[in-house]
Amino acid sequence: MESKQSDQAKEEIFRLFDEKPTSGLGFLDAERSLPPPPPPCLEVLASEVSPSAKYTVEPVNIGGLTLFKGRVSTQEVFTLTNSDLVPGKYEGGLKLWEGSLDLITTLSSEMQDGRLSFTGKRVLELGCGHGLPGIFACLKGASLVHFQDFNSEVLQYLTIPNVAVNIEKNSQCLGPDVEEGPVNTETRFFSGDWGEVHHVLSCVCSNEYNIRSRPQLDQAAGYDVILMAETVYSISALPNLYKLIKKCLSYPHGVVYMAAKKYYFGVGGGSRRFLALVEKDGAFVSSLVAEVADGSSNVREVWKLHLK
Ligand SMILES: C[S@@+](CC[C@H](N)C(=O)[O-])C[C@H]1O[C@@H](n2cnc3c(N)ncnc32)[C@H](O)[C@@H]1O
Repeated sequence: MESKQSDQAKEEIFRLFDEKPTSGLGFLDAERSLPPPPPPCLEVLASEVSPSAKYTVEPVNIGGLTLFKGRVSTQEVFTLTNSDLVPGKYEGGLKLWEGSLDLITTLSSEMQDGRLSFTGKRVLELGCGHGLPGIFACLKGASLVHFQDFNSEVLQYLTIPNVAVNIEKNSQCLGPDVEEGPVNTETRFFSGDWGEVHHVLSCVCSNEYNIRSRPQLDQAAGYDVILMAETVYSISALPNLYKLIKKCLSYPHGVVYMAAKKYYFGVGGGSRRFLALVEKDGAFVSSLVAEVADGSSNVREVWKLHLK
């Protein structure tokens, strides 16, 4: 047993680098070697949910709203022990990161203030992991929500069951006096790297995105809302993530909500690094919608981006 653990420890060539490791929400830093080739891009069907790992459900309270999240073991799914993230192999989707809760809180207040509605909207959650922001959009009337994760296993073991559990619990709560109706959202699940996943996503403009010519190309293409939480930690992944957003966002009213730490210690990415790239390209206007500095980790932010 001991030798198995030390083998696993060797395999995990990563080091916790967050300011406060005890928060349980830190990233792991790699003693860098070349990452393996990315997994293939796939649509994972809801029926492909995997029963082979133990899945338990627990409630998450987000400012008075209760959503449900599953728990599966990283060991059972990826044969990794105590690993937050292994670049190029497992990108952290089995864990619930605090940015996704910041994102839901912000979406909720945007809705309350009349600045956002999900009713009838096409939504994409990038780097979804548990998928709670996308699930929130389902419960608030989105017509479709597509969930994307690097790892198909995350979708099979966690995201798909989470979507099912939340929709089921929501329908159980509906009484005759409840304003919101049953969830009628089309949900689909896509895995793969941001550099390639546009080949399988269904609402993407097939041509290489060109903002100037986009209005003539296809007004109906693209997602109305793109959500992402804790996706901008790796500097090397930022250009592909940005290009994907440009390919996916509907013109001219599409909006992106991004929750992230201002800076990820040890890996160098962060909201500001991503926004520097966005600003250099010049296609988007960005605004800071929320800032969380609760001392539990480095400063977290939620940004809103829309096309100029
Ligand atoms: C730290 S996890 C955050 C998960 C979830 N959004 C949350 O906040 O709980 C980062 C997510 O980004 C996605 N991701 C990271 N790098 C990626 C890449 N190069 N291509 C596609 N997805 C990637 C992974 O799917 C992973 O679930």
